[in-house]
Amino acid sequence: MKYDNKTIKLKNGQSAILRAPSANDAAELIAYMKTVFGETDFLMRYPEEFEMSVEDEAKILEGLESSETSLMICCEADGKLVGNCQLSFNQRIKTAHRATIAISVLKDYWGQGIGTALFEEMIKVSKDKGVLQMELEFVEGNERAKRLYEKIGFAVVAEKPNAIRLKDGTMLKEYFMVKYL
Ligand SMILES: CC(C)(COP(=O)(O)OP(=O)(O)OC[C@H]1O[C@@H](n2cnc3c(N)ncnc32)[C@H](O)[C@@H]1OP(=O)(O)O)[C@@H](O)C(=O)NCCC(=O)NCCS
Repeated sequence: MKYDNKTIKLKNGQSAILRAPSANDAAELIAYMKTVFGETDFLMRYPEEFEMSVEDEAKILEGLESSETSLMICCEADGKLVGNCQLSFNQRIKTAHRATIAISVLKDYWGQGIGTALFEEMIKVSKDKGVLQMELEFVEGNERAKRLYEKIGFAVVAEKPNAIRLKDGTMLKEYFMVKYL
């Protein structure tokens, strides 16, 4: 899906670019995902569970460029990828009014407004596509994500008990949030 680059100002004053990734970003994106999976328990994988070859990732990114059902937007600052999000649209008639979101930002860049900026873009694109309802899930304890989502206008509509079981056996709920456009 086509996305026009946008320059944003972070809270610390530095500039960052929001852009769709291309196949050339495959190796860096794999390294980025492994890093973010290791920085938080609130994403759905441990780093060792993200096994992707550069070739396969490049094919996925190539596919995204022409996809009508999925858009990835990356945030680049200091010459590297520091954040990304993925917006997935449904194509079937009964569910085409809904879109799903996934988002992450490198820990060193938390609190700089990148999450907020990525959401603003995803909302714009969703509205343009005629989406009526945006949906996401977050894991119990992820207060930063929860506050960001509430600020953007999402509200909790359901919870799933024991959705996550960490390596140490800790069980965590997952909350389902919706924002009506
Ligand atoms: C959740 C995440 C995407 C937020 O991204 P971010 O770039 O840090 O978000 P922002 O800087 O736009 O801040 C968003 C809001 O978080 C809240 N926030 C900031 N610091 C916070 C803190 N220490 N504790 C709780 N909430 C906090 C504020 O409401 C802030 O909005 P404001 O600055 O306008 O007041 C990011 O922290 C992240 O990637 N975390 C790990 C992966 C993850 O949890 N992904 C989401 C899975 S559902």
